[in-house]
Amino acid sequence: MVRMMRRLGIARPFHMPLDALHLEHDAVAGLMRLWSRIHWSSGDGMMPPDQLLAIYRLAVEWPVDGDIVELGAWTGLTTCYLATACRVRNSGRVFAVDTFKGTKEDGSLYPSVAKMGGSTLDAFHERTRRAGVADIALPLIGLTTEVVDRYPGRPIRFLLIDADHSYDGVRADFERWSPKVAPGGLIVFHDYQMPDVARFVNSHVIGRPGFDPHPGLVVPNVIAFTKTAQVAPTPSARRFVRPVAARRRPSGVAVR
Ligand SMILES: C[S@@+](CC[C@H](N)C(=O)[O-])C[C@H]1O[C@@H](n2cnc3c(N)ncnc32)[C@H](O)[C@@H]1O
Repeated sequence: MVRMMRRLGIARPFHMPLDALHLEHDAVAGLMRLWSRIHWSSGDGMMPPDQLLAIYRLAVEWPVDGDIVELGAWTGLTTCYLATACRVRNSGRVFAVDTFKGTKEDGSLYPSVAKMGGSTLDAFHERTRRAGVADIALPLIGLTTEVVDRYPGRPIRFLLIDADHSYDGVRADFERWSPKVAPGGLIVFHDYQMPDVARFVNSHVIGRPGFDPHPGLVVPNVIAFTKTAQVAPTPSARRFVRPVAARRRPSGVAVR
């Protein structure tokens, strides 16, 4: 890895903006996959590298001001990328909403939470500290539908929905949090390949007035909408994102 970086003339790879590498998305995703094996060998992140990269680039390039909210933070892996995007833009903070204990609706997380001593919050703090973003990555502890009433941030420029993946859970998060998204801001659904998430998005978000299906499916599993866009994307954001119609939908997903 180090030799490859030297060959590319990169002395300090982790301080180099990704765009400066002039690599295509797939190439950068490959590098990130490599980094992920090296740096997160414990496998305690839930977001695959290509999806992390897509989310990171959207967060860096989307030209709307405000804060970022991540619903469902787990141990803060994606949080660190979102906060780094804030750092790169020199603007905004990330509010990471989670019980940090799993929920009774999804008991599958309880064993992992138990292994971490009953809470993922220490891991979240450790990770954001190591990433150098602890000052701008702020945990909001509680159920997403309760925390929304005490959200302390600015209008949201980027809302990532990745908490309760049931139909009712995604619906509640969308209905409760989308009013806090700034005009032109993004609402990003992770796990669009999960049947309940796809069912909600396809029946309630696609075609709904006030929500443009742009940028659409940025990589499989990550679909993003603009809330009544009043700000045009920057040329680089436009290059990166593809309209939803231009991408193949996950098989078996009914679209209105
Ligand atoms: C898939 S993980 C999030 C992964 C994280 N975004 C990442 O990229 O690493 C889902 C998280 O949502 C949290 N969660 C699920 N339902 C929730 C709810 N209703 N309120 C708050 N947190 C919730 C769980 O505790 C878990 O940490």
